[in-house]
Amino acid sequence: MVLSMDRWVGQVAIVTGASSGIGKAIAASLVEQGLIVVGIARRSELVEEHSKQLSGKKGKLHAVKADVTKEEDILKAFEWTSKKLGPVHILINNAGTHKRTTLTEGNTEDWKATLDLNVLGLCIATREAVKIMKANNINGHIIHINSVAGHTVPNVRHLNVYPAAKFAVTALTETLRQELTHLGSKIKVTSVSPGFVESELTTLSKTQTPEDKAKLAQMPILKGEDIADGVIYALSTPEHVQIALSTVTNTVRPTHAMVLSMDRWVGKIAIVTGASSGIGKAIAASLVEHGLIVVGTARRSELVEEHSKQLSEKKGKLHGIKADFTKEEDILKTFAWTTKNLGPVHILVNNAGRSGSERLGFVRIATREAVKAMKAKKINGHIIHINSVLGHTVFNVPNLNVYPASKFAVTALTETLRQELNHLGSKIKITSVSPGLVESELTTQNRTQSPEIKAILEKMPILKSEDIADGVVYALSTPEHVQIHELTIRPL
Ligand SMILES: NC(=O)c1ccc[n+]([C@@H]2O[C@H](COP(=O)([O-])OP(=O)(O)OC[C@H]3O[C@@H](n4cnc5c(N)ncnc54)[C@H](OP(=O)(O)O)[C@@H]3O)[C@@H](O)[C@H]2O)c1
Repeated sequence: MVLSMDRWVGQVAIVTGASSGIGKAIAASLVEQGLIVVGIARRSELVEEHSKQLSGKKGKLHAVKADVTKEEDILKAFEWTSKKLGPVHILINNAGTHKRTTLTEGNTEDWKATLDLNVLGLCIATREAVKIMKANNINGHIIHINSVAGHTVPNVRHLNVYPAAKFAVTALTETLRQELTHLGSKIKVTSVSPGFVESELTTLSKTQTPEDKAKLAQMPILKGEDIADGVIYALSTPEHVQIALSTVTNTVRPTHAMVLSMDRWVGKIAIVTGASSGIGKAIAASLVEHGLIVVGTARRSELVEEHSKQLSEKKGKLHGIKADFTKEEDILKTFAWTTKNLGPVHILVNNAGRSGSERLGFVRIATREAVKAMKAKKINGHIIHINSVLGHTVFNVPNLNVYPASKFAVTALTETLRQELNHLGSKIKITSVSPGLVESELTTQNRTQSPEIKAILEKMPILKSEDIADGVVYALSTPEHVQIHELTIRPL
């Protein structure tokens, strides 16, 4: 793991909406990591109270009273921060609201309040933060607390302009990212999109009808701390890694301590396809370091065996299996060998594949076999699809042919499987990890590349395979009630 919060220790972070819920949890996490945090809210007395509770921690929490729907309040909060504490390094745009009304009968004031806070307040705070970061040459980080409703409108009554506001946040994240890229800036932008979280906006709301309350009580729910974990992961990535989107959805009600940990996987079996090079090799190494028994499949299994020797001192173990995953019989044999010789599979990382259509076939088959094995042994396992940013947007790059189509299919397969597992009441998790350009045999180390493509690739920022392995380990480390649905990792 190359994840570290060290570069942020002693630096200044602003968290909007820090008086309750997600913002309060994020402020606490940042203070624990040693940051100087400015918690903005209208009820600043709640932030002050929280600051006292955090007094023994490594960092410090300061309360600033501000209404984020008022531009002058935002400007004053930033001025106060710069003057008293120094320039801001991190901005967490978390303050948000939802009014219980409708689009067909709702009143304009409610809609305006939502859009002013969730969209315009976020834009103004972002502009101020970027100005300060640029003026002080700070490679800072801006994190928008978005929502799953910022990607798909959920079928829930009384949402009115809330999803529209969050869709705007999705667009604002990407627009800002592109603007900063054009400027050659190294400021990062991340959108974190939670599912349903316990807070004053949901289960703790005082304005809920008994009918709504009863419905909410049935739903699986996240804690603010789970979102704070996602924020810390995004902040911990090295300077060349940008988490563009991390959607956190929930599976079951929390029963466990809210901490990231790989402990429950120690000694368990993981199958990593395409483990002979690149991303698959890095993931296999990371899992072995965390104490897993890893079956690394590849046509060039001798490379996996060679790698296994290099990892012989580590906590876990790597087994190389020769398999061509375009052949169903090879996939079936791999699962049969694994079950017989090592035990049932707990984790499947679908990573292998060159051409799109090939990959699609074995992703389906390998996933089916893994789910079968997990269901038979009642294992709450985890299936990870190594997808691509091209699974979400087609880029203007030559010779892509069916590759983006196959990745769009992986995006759909991930969601379809997630829904299928939900319907079955299964606790098996499914995560899509979508990297941008990564140094590997598929890209920069590809010997068959045309000089034209080579020249394009050489100019582009690029990720290391280990950055993807870090993302996989983060997704696996979440507690059982947390499901990372989509994790997009881009180079900066
Ligand atoms: N809870 C969920 O299920 C869920 C799911 C997805 C996304 N989210 C998003 O997560 C973010 C935080 O929500 P939450 O669930 O933690 O809700 P929450 O407990 O109600 O917290 C909202 C925070 O925003 C602050 N706030 C509201 N209006 C403000 C204003 N005009 N000026 C300054 N601060 C204001 C509140 O502080 P004061 O009232 O003291 O000002 C409070 O600290 C929101 O952006 C929300 O859309 C929540």
